[in-house]
Amino acid sequence: MGTVISNERLADNVYHLRVSGDYGGETGQFYMLRAWGAYPVLSRPLSIHQVEDDGIEFLYHVVGEGTELFSQLTPGDSINLEGPFGSGFPAVTGRVALVGGGIGIAPLLYCAREIPGCDVYLGFSREPFRTEEFRPYAAKLTVDVGGLILDNVDFAEYDHIFVCGPHPMLKAAQLKGIAAATSGSPVNVYLSLENRMACGIGACLVCSVSCKDGQRKACADGPVFLAEEVVF
Ligand code: FES
Repeated sequence: MGTVISNERLADNVYHLRVSGDYGGETGQFYMLRAWGAYPVLSRPLSIHQVEDDGIEFLYHVVGEGTELFSQLTPGDSINLEGPFGSGFPAVTGRVALVGGGIGIAPLLYCAREIPGCDVYLGFSREPFRTEEFRPYAAKLTVDVGGLILDNVDFAEYDHIFVCGPHPMLKAAQLKGIAAATSGSPVNVYLSLENRMACGIGACLVCSVSCKDGQRKACADGPVFLAEEVVF
């Protein structure tokens, strides 16, 4: 059980939650959180935004009952965290880009800290948020509002690209990775899929992902997948 340090509204329906306690994890992993009793039945999965000495941070978008209840949390409230779960981003070296769209920037701040010198691309349809927090870690920080953030990324420049955002963006990243490889610049593109989850531990199949080798589970086999494995 953690204690809420702060729960700040950043933009339209987007919040930054800080929880005290001894929580850690790998980049790209997630926790299952709940701040209520029996109902809603399911905990909500949130990816690790940042790990600090005194606690852990998350970003979330209010999209339903559970996240609405999160938005009402105030400092000192208790919140239950289980995790970390899932298979996150790999440890990599070389030229690395992190590309996030909207709330998909959530898992990338922790990555940026772990990969000094990476290039960071953040895209938003309207109000940007948490962009300056990336600046200390990024060799180059590009923020786009209202456009397509992937249009700013030359895939041929990188060895590894980590992407998190809405499904059309992930699919576009997959295609750009294939195009770069076809033109002689192979790049490993990793996608963090934000599928709906129920159990979070591989027991219910709610989070099924179509992959070349069959159905896999976003919560246990992912949420990070090599782009070329995913069938959109
Ligand atoms: Fe239950 Fe993934 S959320 S198997």
